[in-house]
Amino acid sequence: MTYNIGLLGLGTVGTGTAEILLNPDGRSPLLRDIRIHRVGVRALNKPRTVDFEPGVLTTNLDAIVADPEIDIIVELIGGVERARELILAAIAHGKHIVTANKAVIARHGDEIFSAAQTAGVYVLLEAAVGGGIPIIQPLKQSLGGNRIERVTGIINGTTNYILTQMQDEGAAFDDVLAEAQALGYAEADPTADVDGFDAADKISILASLAFGGRVRYEDIDRQGIRNISPADITYAQQLGFTIKLLAIAQWSTAQNSLHLRVGPTLVTNHHPLASVNGVFNAILIDADPLGQVMFYGPGAGKGATASAVTADLLNITALLQSEKLEDGLHPLLTCTHTDYCPITPTEAVETRFYARFLCGDRPGVIGHLGTCFGDHNVSLESIVQIGYHQDQAEVVVVTHDVREGDFHAALDAIHGFEEIDDIHIASVFRVL
Ligand code: HSE
Repeated sequence: MTYNIGLLGLGTVGTGTAEILLNPDGRSPLLRDIRIHRVGVRALNKPRTVDFEPGVLTTNLDAIVADPEIDIIVELIGGVERARELILAAIAHGKHIVTANKAVIARHGDEIFSAAQTAGVYVLLEAAVGGGIPIIQPLKQSLGGNRIERVTGIINGTTNYILTQMQDEGAAFDDVLAEAQALGYAEADPTADVDGFDAADKISILASLAFGGRVRYEDIDRQGIRNISPADITYAQQLGFTIKLLAIAQWSTAQNSLHLRVGPTLVTNHHPLASVNGVFNAILIDADPLGQVMFYGPGAGKGATASAVTADLLNITALLQSEKLEDGLHPLLTCTHTDYCPITPTEAVETRFYARFLCGDRPGVIGHLGTCFGDHNVSLESIVQIGYHQDQAEVVVVTHDVREGDFHAALDAIHGFEEIDDIHIASVFRVL
């Protein structure tokens, strides 16, 4: 059974999604059942990195959402009003929706989900928060046995990049912003990111899932990062803190209500979110009885976001298929594997090694070790005599990535040195 999708938008994420769908080898076998039927673009003659069959590209997005041959609409045009219009039209035509658009969901989610409920279609949005990090599905399913107490996220990569640079370079906000814009990490109009609107959209979506209710965007206490000075960062560091733009949704049992905020926040350097740097995102969930769990990864970008879009497509496809399969089993919940995975023998694995030797402190020992590793094709990153252990010299070696078989052959040869009989291998570990 093949399902047709209509892709609205062929920008970075649209292109990444098409690349996955058109190259399914090694990925979920269900991807072969998803066919790109139409792709809606602004201009037909723009150079593209993906080739489609003639007639697939069109500038008529309204025709795509009404096309009776299409089962799922993937909305990747961004923005609010036009996206809302197309999503609602697609729902009215009985299409399932996959979207990466946090702004349209945060602001018009009530209308969109009510329409979807009436029409009996799904609206999935894994790509809307945290880019490639799976967080929507875990909140809906995997964590469902818990009471969520708090969601704390670094969910805007642009601001996290700016704050990381300000901290590492001691630079001012305006200078780092200009640099981020030149590198393409920040938009020409950075308002949505640096003033916290993007993070507010995202925390409203997470909160809604975590706490089981709709959230009004205007109820979020929102502050951006424009007012953070290098002095604040320095003083925070001296006190053992890192400044992060945190988006927090916190349930108060005493007040039986939710508080939502986005704003610069000092976190202690030991906190798991303190080491989330650059454009990376992370979401920390406090849950009962689970405790703390953190989701970390690339919060934006072509492949990462396309990965999340594809996850939603797989979920809908599996559901549609299970309704029609004879056994009725959901393809993502059953085990369909019958073959064994091919296994790489340990001696063929490439890895780095650490080895510590105890040996006599005489001329030529380090030379012998180096020669022996070299003879067996083992390239060394470092070899140092560190100290003494009970009258013996301690020599520590760290290799580059080498074939495990070669490394052990070199150790065997070292062990069998005739010239040096007092060399002992004290310890050997792999280095990641
Ligand atoms: N502008 C967003 C960010 C990426 O900087 O994290 C898309 O959600």
